[in-house]
Amino acid sequence: MQMTKTLGEFIIDCQAEYPEATGALTNIFSAIRLAAKIVHREINKAGLVDITGAAGLENVQGEQQQKLDVYANDKFKAALAARGDVCGIASEEEEEYVYFEEGHSPDGRYVVLMDPLDGSSNIDVNVSVGTIFSIYRRVSPVGQPVTAEDFLQPGDQQVAAGYVIYGSSTMLVYTTGNGVNGFTFDPSLGVFYLSHPNMRIPQEGKIYSINEGNYINFPAGVKKYIKYCQEKDAATNRPYTSRYIGSLVSDFHRNMIKGGIYLYPPTHSHPNGKLRLLYECNPMAFLAEQAGGKAVAGPDQRILSLQPTELHQRVPLVVGSTTMVEKVESFLREDQ
Ligand code: AHG
Ligand code: MN
Ligand code: MN
Repeated sequence: MQMTKTLGEFIIDCQAEYPEATGALTNIFSAIRLAAKIVHREINKAGLVDITGAAGLENVQGEQQQKLDVYANDKFKAALAARGDVCGIASEEEEEYVYFEEGHSPDGRYVVLMDPLDGSSNIDVNVSVGTIFSIYRRVSPVGQPVTAEDFLQPGDQQVAAGYVIYGSSTMLVYTTGNGVNGFTFDPSLGVFYLSHPNMRIPQEGKIYSINEGNYINFPAGVKKYIKYCQEKDAATNRPYTSRYIGSLVSDFHRNMIKGGIYLYPPTHSHPNGKLRLLYECNPMAFLAEQAGGKAVAGPDQRILSLQPTELHQRVPLVVGSTTMVEKVESFLREDQ
């Protein structure tokens, strides 16, 4: 594959199409690109340096923080704070949202929400992890401290969203509402190249991704869907294939390329599912829709239309190939 356009060139080309653009988004992407390279470098040293394992702390959701959770959070936060365009962030690893006040520009017009390291239980076993980000324009007055309202915006207000996957290669995949593009990192040059222009999720797929260990606790409609996936039917190309990495970024990325569906339904221990609306579900839903797919929390409950109420709010997620998501919705509807 000939890769000629870099991420930097691509962003500048896109900006040129909007004469009114201030370059703020370009700066934010530069910050994300830099932090992604730093985290890439550290992840690739896992096993060689003391970066695997627990940090000995819990995050606000009572989850064990891994050393790389903390490291990635620090690097993305610092890179974003160093640009004058972001006035605050919210993160899985921060209890409250953070206002970039001292030494930085409080005049920034954007806020960023992020899951700095997604799938962190995979780090110690050399399996792909990711970073997820979501960018909004602030709604409170510029120059004032950020407010909860800046972060609690429905997903359809996202200006941009994306993820970095630290896999067999490192990729940055993002959307600004004009399709989805993927860039592969060449570590020898330190450059991301446009490798996956205009990514589209196949309308139908053959892969279903769900933690089946929770089967007994799933809603009846989800149980029926899993059995549907496993039944033999030549006309619909069943049985499907089950693939579950346990890193939303990795499962989503594979399904986007090959066609498939990812589900994290409610369970007894997690009655609203496990995934967080603001920095996991919304960015993935934006990417899914921009790639021609679909993302819902339940039948007719479009993720991007949900009004958030809390920073670390959880919500069930069904995302992927449109036909498959609609099949799940129909099974769930039968049991309502
Ligand atoms: P994180 O590492 O950021 O806490 O996210 C983990 C999430 C998601 O990436 C993954 O799909 C899911 O949790 C896996 O959960 P289970 O182990 O319960 O299946
Ligand atoms: Mn996560
Ligand atoms: Mn995480």
